[in-house]
Amino acid sequence: MIVTTKELFEHAYGKYAVGAYNINNLEQTIGLFRGNLAKKDKNEEPTNAKLSAPFIIQLSRGARAYTDKRYLESMIRTSEEVFPEAIFAVHLDHGTEEVCYECIDSGFYSSVMIDASHDPFDKNIEIVRRVVDRAHEKGISVEAELGMLGGVEEDISVDADHACLTDPDQAVEFVERSGCDSLAVAIGTSHGAFKFKGKQGLHFDRISAIQKLLPNYPLVMHGSSSVPKEWVDRINNAGGNMPETSGVPEEDYLPASKLGVTKVNIDTDGRLVWCAILRETFRDKPGDFDPRTSGKPFMAAYADFITHKNQMLGSAGQLESLRQSLGVKV
Ligand code: G3H
Ligand code: 13P
Ligand code: ZN
Repeated sequence: MIVTTKELFEHAYGKYAVGAYNINNLEQTIGLFRGNLAKKDKNEEPTNAKLSAPFIIQLSRGARAYTDKRYLESMIRTSEEVFPEAIFAVHLDHGTEEVCYECIDSGFYSSVMIDASHDPFDKNIEIVRRVVDRAHEKGISVEAELGMLGGVEEDISVDADHACLTDPDQAVEFVERSGCDSLAVAIGTSHGAFKFKGKQGLHFDRISAIQKLLPNYPLVMHGSSSVPKEWVDRINNAGGNMPETSGVPEEDYLPASKLGVTKVNIDTDGRLVWCAILRETFRDKPGDFDPRTSGKPFMAAYADFITHKNQMLGSAGQLESLRQSLGVKV
């Protein structure tokens, strides 16, 4: 069941973070639904209530252009029928103004992200305000971004020297003037697989300072993949060539959620799972050429991975309570 992002945030705020996962294809979609319901396999019944979680499906501009955006919508609609227990929102990730309007007008999205973080402060506010006015007319909420993350997102690359943390006073002014419903903040994370060389955590002092000035306001953390060593090693052991790297420690997710980080964006880690499983399949079964030979273990591994992430986010086990607070029956 698709719900508003606002409903998910109201239930989660201050207690746990909702996982926001990107999808591009059918196997990722199925793995994602199974993982959030803690089902490894399509025949596994019943859903494990202790581990089931609400979640957000994110569609980037790249995902919408990869095949045809209508496939994404129909895969999600079909998943709603196949997994009637699931409660989730559909979100546009890193939208431009034009793509935001397209998604708002489509009637399919629960929320959109307008990413004008590369524009100067006043221009960023101006753009976000226009998108908010149009989205709110249709009951859709808007995520905006202030500050600058390092790494590569869509076609823009920001090096570490130019990344800058979100200023708490500016965040208050930004939210008031733009009317955005949630704010992506720069708190030490960056996009992609190559985040940090050594061990590095989140800037909790900065999150806390922002929360003090914006109490009860949902913050969003982009670039939240943890880049697990296990998956990087599996890729390299199966012929890959990824340098040593690290991401956001998973242990930081829950403490961050207590400080208002309500949505945690994870894409790269899912890509690592995809890459490892495909490489291993081709390594171990060189004579096989059936897409299902790698698709099946990928869906199971991705489901497992999602269930694990949800445990770290604190969203695992929250589905039933959300269902009750929304008054929905399966
Ligand atoms: O932050 C960007 C997301 O990871 C989406 O990546 O634009 O390559 O689909 P993408
Ligand atoms: P990662 O690259 O860390 O997975 O971040 C994804 C993201 O922020 C999507 O918007
Ligand atoms: Zn992002």
